[in-house]
Amino acid sequence: VVLASALYHLVMDRRTILSALEPWRTGSGPLYRRLEKALRAAIGTGEISAGSGLPSERELARLLDTSRTTVNAAYEILRSSAVLSSRQGSGTWVTAQSRYDRMLGRRPSIGRDAFFRSIIEGTDAPVDLSTALVPASQIVLQALAEFGSVAGASVLASGGYEPYGLHELRRGIAEDLSRRGLPTTTGQILVTTGAQQAITLIADMFVSPRAQVLMESPTYPGAIDVISSRGAAIRSIRMDQEGIMVDRLLQLTERVEPALLYLTPTYHSPSGIEVSSERLDEIVNVVEQRNLTVLEDISLADIPLTATRAELGSLAGRTESPRVLTIGSLSKPFWGGLRIGWTRGPVELIVELARRKAVTDFGSSLVSQLLALRLMEKLREAAEERRQWATSGLSALTDTLAHYLPDWRWTQPRGGASLWVQLGDASATEFAAIALRKGVMLTPGPTFAPEGGERSSLRIPFVADPKVLRSAGPLLRSAWEEYQAWRDSETAPRLVM
Ligand SMILES: Cc1ncc(COP(=O)(O)O)c(C=O)c1O
Repeated sequence: VVLASALYHLVMDRRTILSALEPWRTGSGPLYRRLEKALRAAIGTGEISAGSGLPSERELARLLDTSRTTVNAAYEILRSSAVLSSRQGSGTWVTAQSRYDRMLGRRPSIGRDAFFRSIIEGTDAPVDLSTALVPASQIVLQALAEFGSVAGASVLASGGYEPYGLHELRRGIAEDLSRRGLPTTTGQILVTTGAQQAITLIADMFVSPRAQVLMESPTYPGAIDVISSRGAAIRSIRMDQEGIMVDRLLQLTERVEPALLYLTPTYHSPSGIEVSSERLDEIVNVVEQRNLTVLEDISLADIPLTATRAELGSLAGRTESPRVLTIGSLSKPFWGGLRIGWTRGPVELIVELARRKAVTDFGSSLVSQLLALRLMEKLREAAEERRQWATSGLSALTDTLAHYLPDWRWTQPRGGASLWVQLGDASATEFAAIALRKGVMLTPGPTFAPEGGERSSLRIPFVADPKVLRSAGPLLRSAWEEYQAWRDSETAPRLVM
């Protein structure tokens, strides 16, 4: 019970709260009323969302350069009208929904996905292991410095809307895939605003409300969110060390006609395993037999942990089926801030996706694409840089875990950005709530499970700075001890009066 009360109000970061409240001092009346109004307005618009943790009174007073009494009075009014709640040890958090959430009948997704909370509202958790994002590669910094000379005059003379993407960049991506064993023409490539947009466009095309979509479990939460927001029913397929269980795939496709099968073969997100070539062949057999439409996501392919393989592990390279779409991204080898991804598929589907993309955004930024074009020449170099970085992050993390948490288990990843850790029979969600209080923000397993489950799994990214990863060890250990003590006290026999 104590634990439930401590669950799980990520305290917003200082910058975000300041920009949501400024300029709170304007207007008339006592200061505490002005602050109360500013807080109420930001909660009403959703800038501060239901479930968010607010800074302590002392901290907010310091941030806003005002007195603690002012903050206390404003919080008190909002508590009395059920906009805020506070509890000793858990701080103060927002209980009211925004006007729009109420209008749309949306439930607050309180901490459901620490990643989205972290990128939308920010967090000041000292050790943020909720995202596997990496800063820009040195190669990006160099290319940015030289950028003036890259911006091609002919491109700049055009109107700037290119729904398919810059021709030379499409060609560069096609050539890279062809070199890695996936023969591809320029016309088969669509440049997208990150792989995330590719997932959205493809889901819009194939997934209607009440459709059935098959996904691995666990899988990439960004895809779960897109698919479930289309109103589709997700059927999940468990995995072993080589990929999804093909028996289960066969069984499911006997009973339902899925609109889409989403897979992350190279490397699997979040576990970093690489689907074996035998398993890829078996999956291709089922895909051809059952005429399945496949979205394979190889966004993590350019963070290898072993020496870079000459050939990409992908389904598309093994089938003539016109219903396999492959998506990838420059976010991992170079930088997520470029927002450049791509889709490879049969020309007819690429044309249809480009039409849909044109309606969505007229085309991805040409500034980013010009830079990406320059970067493509250095893709192998970037993947090697990432490999070295991920390798040292992985060994820092696994050494730390082996030392501080010897009971935890994982499968050694072959690539990607995170370790998929098994906590025995512990609840990862409850553990993550305690870890957050100790200053480490983590994403528990259920976030990655499209149909539920994975309650004892935890995703820990290893692409953070090794120093940060090592510093997490003692904090996680202390959270683990507290979790175990709490669990023992919950399960201990009670005296019945
Ligand atoms: C498996 C997977 N697919 C897609 C994406 C989306 O990447 P982006 O939109 O940055 O290209 C990510 C990002 O983390 C990912 O891990």
